[in-house]
Amino acid sequence: MNTKPCKVVVLISGNGSNLQALIDASAEGNFQVAAVISNKANAFGLQRAAAASITSHVIEHTQYDSREAFDLALQEAIEKHQPQLIILAGFMRILSAQFVKHFSGRLINIHPSLLPKYTGMNTHQRALDAGDSEHGASVHFVTEELDGGPVIARATVAIKDNDDADTLQQRVAQVEHQLYPAVVRTFAAGRVRFNNGLAIFDGMPIPAVGLDVNTLCS
Ligand code: GRF
Repeated sequence: MNTKPCKVVVLISGNGSNLQALIDASAEGNFQVAAVISNKANAFGLQRAAAASITSHVIEHTQYDSREAFDLALQEAIEKHQPQLIILAGFMRILSAQFVKHFSGRLINIHPSLLPKYTGMNTHQRALDAGDSEHGASVHFVTEELDGGPVIARATVAIKDNDDADTLQQRVAQVEHQLYPAVVRTFAAGRVRFNNGLAIFDGMPIPAVGLDVNTLCS
C-alpha cells in the first residue's frame, strides 16, 4: 500500500472539466495534482487550477519553431514536478515520438470514443452517422500511434434516437468524469501498469477493449 500520494501533472488546452473531476477526486488523498500545464493562455482550466491553488504553467506552442522544441520545453516543465503520472485531459496537441518515449508508461489520455473505434476528431458525430447504438470514452496509455495505445478502461453510454452531437457529448462527458479519476486512483494504488506495450491490471494483461469502471474499482 502506497502511503505518499501519487504526484500527477495534468495537461490541458481548454475547458478542463476532466481536470476538475481529477481535482475533486484528489481530495480523497491517493493522488495529488502537482501542476497543470496548458498550451493556451485562455484555457478555462487554468482558472480551475487557480481556484484549487494548484501551480500552473502556460507553454504556448506558437512560441516554438518546431514540435520537437515545444515538446522539449513541455518535458522540462513537467519534469520539474517529478510526477509519477502525466495526464492528458483535453490537450489538443500531437506529441512527438521523443516525448512519448520519454514518458512511456506514465502518460495517459482520455478519448471520447469506445476505442479502437473513432480515433481522431468528431467522434460523437461519427458514432451518430454510423448508426451506432452505443458510444463512450476510453482511457489509454499513450504510445506513438495516435489514440492507439493500450486501453486501460472504457465507459459506455447508450445512444438515444433524438441525440445530436451535443447531447451525446454531454452524456459522454459525464461518464468521463467518473472514468478518469477511477483510472488515476487505480494507477496511484499501483494496480495499473504499462509493460511491454500492454496495459496491466493486478498483474494480468487488460483485454483490448479495456476494463469497465466496476472492475477497475473492485
Ligand atoms: C474530452 O471530451 C476528452 O475526452 C477529450 O477532450 C475533451 C476535454 O474536455 N480528450 P475537458 O477540457 O476536460 O472539459
